[in-house]
Amino acid sequence: MNDTPPLLNTRPEWLALEAHYRQSARLHLRDLFAADPRRAEKFTVTAEDLLLDYSKNLVTEETMRLLHDLAAAVEWEKARDAMFSGKIINRTEQRAVLHTALRNRNNRPVLVGGHDIMPDVNRVLAKMADFANAVRDGSWHGYTGKPVVNIVNIGIGGSDLGPAMACEALRPYARHELKTYFVSNIHAAHLSEALRDLRPEETLFIVTSKTFTTQETMTNARTAREWLLYTLKDREAVARHFVAVSTNAREVAAFGIAPDNMFEFWDWVGGRYSLCSAVGLALMLAIGPEYFTEMLKGFHAMDRHFQEAPAEGNLPLLLAMLGVWYNNFFGAQSHAILPYNQYLSRFPAYLQQADMESNGKSIDQQGRRVAWQTGPIIWGEPGTNGQHAFYQLLHQGTKLVPADFIGCCRPHCPTGDHHDKLMANFFAQTAALAFGRTQEELRAAGTPEELLPHKTFEGNRPTNTILAEDLNPHLLGRLIALYEHKIFVQGVIWNVYSFDQWGVQLGKELAGCILPELQAAADPELRHDASTNALIRHYRLAQHRGL
Ligand code: F6P
Repeated sequence: MNDTPPLLNTRPEWLALEAHYRQSARLHLRDLFAADPRRAEKFTVTAEDLLLDYSKNLVTEETMRLLHDLAAAVEWEKARDAMFSGKIINRTEQRAVLHTALRNRNNRPVLVGGHDIMPDVNRVLAKMADFANAVRDGSWHGYTGKPVVNIVNIGIGGSDLGPAMACEALRPYARHELKTYFVSNIHAAHLSEALRDLRPEETLFIVTSKTFTTQETMTNARTAREWLLYTLKDREAVARHFVAVSTNAREVAAFGIAPDNMFEFWDWVGGRYSLCSAVGLALMLAIGPEYFTEMLKGFHAMDRHFQEAPAEGNLPLLLAMLGVWYNNFFGAQSHAILPYNQYLSRFPAYLQQADMESNGKSIDQQGRRVAWQTGPIIWGEPGTNGQHAFYQLLHQGTKLVPADFIGCCRPHCPTGDHHDKLMANFFAQTAALAFGRTQEELRAAGTPEELLPHKTFEGNRPTNTILAEDLNPHLLGRLIALYEHKIFVQGVIWNVYSFDQWGVQLGKELAGCILPELQAAADPELRHDASTNALIRHYRLAQHRGL
């Protein structure tokens, strides 16, 4: 039996969407809303207090039907079930993909190679909770007997972005006497600026690395260990000030971290999907095990929604299909994430890795080069800052940039009328992007003729509005899982492997080859291309001039 799927762009459902696009390219949101007073209602779905209004998209009911047909044709539900049940869906690395097991709050067995992984998941969560409680109540103390007041997470990519983003998002739930710092960049400034005002005897380092071989993390961890030992002078101190989060027990031990101080996770957890694993340890220390569990419950609630909600009301599926509509038919190159919440300031950066490392691929699951666009460029900044920076282009530029506006109804800082003003902007922007301002309206308002073209807003710029009651741990879990599953469905539609990341290897290998050339005492023989050779020589000369 031949189980090679047809090329995506030859599927009848794809061709139907292409034909539909040609007919609907001239639609305007002004007309769509005028023609249907119930449009907003029809295109709004909820999951608990999380509301998605996708009515300001360039879609009709027919578009949605055709997109659903495409999703059904690629059997997204079968793919979803394969992931949740632990099938080896990350085939290029021969791994299951089970971040959903990390927050499987109903504890139903999840089998990997016939072994139920839930007892391991719960054991590590319990160990994390014991440790977090001990640090938070002061019963875990440093080498000199002082309690820990600074937590420094050393990690990069998925071992940094998740806990860093979530610590910021849940800052109102954090213990303020415990300060958390995140060091990722190998630029020494990142570590030295973080440590500048810290006292080693009050500082706990969490070295977070799935592989425990990542150059940036291991270099920063070794420098941090030297910094600690410079003051505390005794190697025994490392055991009280360093813990590790990793899958690699051997390398952790080689670094000098005691096995008891290692929090393990497993190869079926992808780095960018690892916040619910021990990678979330810094977050648990900051907010405590109870709020961490609330966040896990939020993740689980969205996992259940993704598994159980009918397709028409399935939030991750809807976001995925709308993204495909713009990416593949309108030719949109990027997608903006615009949280109207300062606490979500790192959310766009977090989603950059989640999305771009997952779906930034150009080879399909059968090893063929794709003839369609895959993952978009993800970017964004919190509102209202973005309004005073790049929104000009969103409103009047030549590029189509679909955007997600994310906001909350209730503030954490009920200071004056800040929140109402923030949210007035939130609602205003999606309306302005959708409906614009016509020449007739400008003329009626007395705008001089020569300024009419400049002051016109075409509108018809698509947005999703994602609105929740307030930003709490449960919501954060749901929000992250919403995007995880959106990314998953898009990967299924584009027929790429979303859970490997071979594209990061080549640069790492070349850096490994160039490093000794930068450090060699005598001029090394360089065998790169002419540009790279010249740049290395220039660097070496500049280094010598600085001696
Ligand atoms: O940049 C590639 C990558 O492998 C990411 O996927 C990962 O999150 C990051 O490096 C860090 O890896 P590790 O946790 O093994 O240090």
